[in-house]
Amino acid sequence: METTTSVSAADQAIQLEWNYGAHNYHPIPAVLTRGEGVYLWDVEGKRYFDFLSAYSAVSQGHCHPRIINAMIQQAQLLTLTSRAFYNDKTGLCEKYLCEFFGFDKALIMNSGAEGGETALKLTRKWAYLVKGIPQNQAKVVFADGNFWGRTLAAISSSTDPSSTNDFGPLLPGYIIIPYNDLTALEETFKRDPNIAGFMVEPIQGEAGVVVPHEGYLKGVRALCTQYNVLFIADEVQTGIGRTGKRIACDHEGVKPDLLVLGKALSGGTMPVSAVLTSNEVMLTIKPGEHGSTYGGNPLACVVTMEALQVVEDEKLAENADVMGEIFRARMTALSQKTELVKSVRGKGLLNAIVITERPDLGAETAWEICLKLKENGLLTKPTHGDKIRFAPPLVINEDQMHEACDIIENTILAF
Ligand SMILES: Cc1ncc(COP(=O)(O)O)c(C=O)c1O
Repeated sequence: METTTSVSAADQAIQLEWNYGAHNYHPIPAVLTRGEGVYLWDVEGKRYFDFLSAYSAVSQGHCHPRIINAMIQQAQLLTLTSRAFYNDKTGLCEKYLCEFFGFDKALIMNSGAEGGETALKLTRKWAYLVKGIPQNQAKVVFADGNFWGRTLAAISSSTDPSSTNDFGPLLPGYIIIPYNDLTALEETFKRDPNIAGFMVEPIQGEAGVVVPHEGYLKGVRALCTQYNVLFIADEVQTGIGRTGKRIACDHEGVKPDLLVLGKALSGGTMPVSAVLTSNEVMLTIKPGEHGSTYGGNPLACVVTMEALQVVEDEKLAENADVMGEIFRARMTALSQKTELVKSVRGKGLLNAIVITERPDLGAETAWEICLKLKENGLLTKPTHGDKIRFAPPLVINEDQMHEACDIIENTILAF
């Protein structure tokens, strides 16, 4: 008798990636095919709560009708001209960004890493043309545990060996200090007159949602002003409502000199990043000195304006604030029922729990919990071993939040 082995659609998709793709990711084995709001569906039709939101890019919810509609309308008109010519959308988007976030000028790029690179290039230009640092001597300070992407400039500031191993030589001109340490920052500024900038995440996302003490950002602002150093806020993950304010710096009422945005800027539809800053900093870069073929393209610009307007109209920052309180209260209550949850931290809807490693599972404990969460209908992934990040779309409502917390609670208590 003839035997047939049936391979599921999910296994086929996973096998294709394995056979033909680079092995640079280790995904949770959910093969997704559709998304709407806070939900994702896999190829077998199973529904999940998305509690990662593509690392905070899908803040407005999957396939937000207004963003998708704006995208389709513009895609039928004009998508790309390059910046060799003008188009009728780039200026509108730049104006929108400047007014929305309160800066003089915007420079639109694509990925978050490119946004960070742009901020660093601006900082170096400003160092030589305005601050008067001798050529090739400018330095930028970063905090231990930072993450801003995978390009060589980005990994050169990384303190995570999995980012840097066998990728050297790295870029010079970086100084690394501890995160959340104003004394270290001031000593560094005092010691070296060639420091041009301090680039920092207001909450470290990839490091496991590390929230600095209250007053840290105010202190950073004051020291940067005192020592004439540019304060570069990397809000690629924390910006655009994620932490319960328009940007995370708003929690302390401080304005950075350069603001880097990405991810949710396009509501999860296409890569769009932007750097916002003053005329003094932005105008140090002259025609022909920086750019990108796709940077500021009309499609990205229309999508960005709509994505930001959705955050505003649907009061998503406010919702993130309220839903975040519910989430942390539920997780704190859970931590009192089980030793598996060591601690709960975060702001708005950027949160994490730290997991106690179970002796039989060791370093795999958080991973095994995420696999079980997947089975039970909720998707997320560990970051840095023992932390599980929970960052749902900001459109989540109270009933959905409680249902999702029930899944998390039942899953963890069953361990
Ligand atoms: C704070 C921060 N900056 C920059 C980036 C890089 O963004 P992208 O992956 O779009 O290059 C990330 C990505 O996770 C990030 O979390």
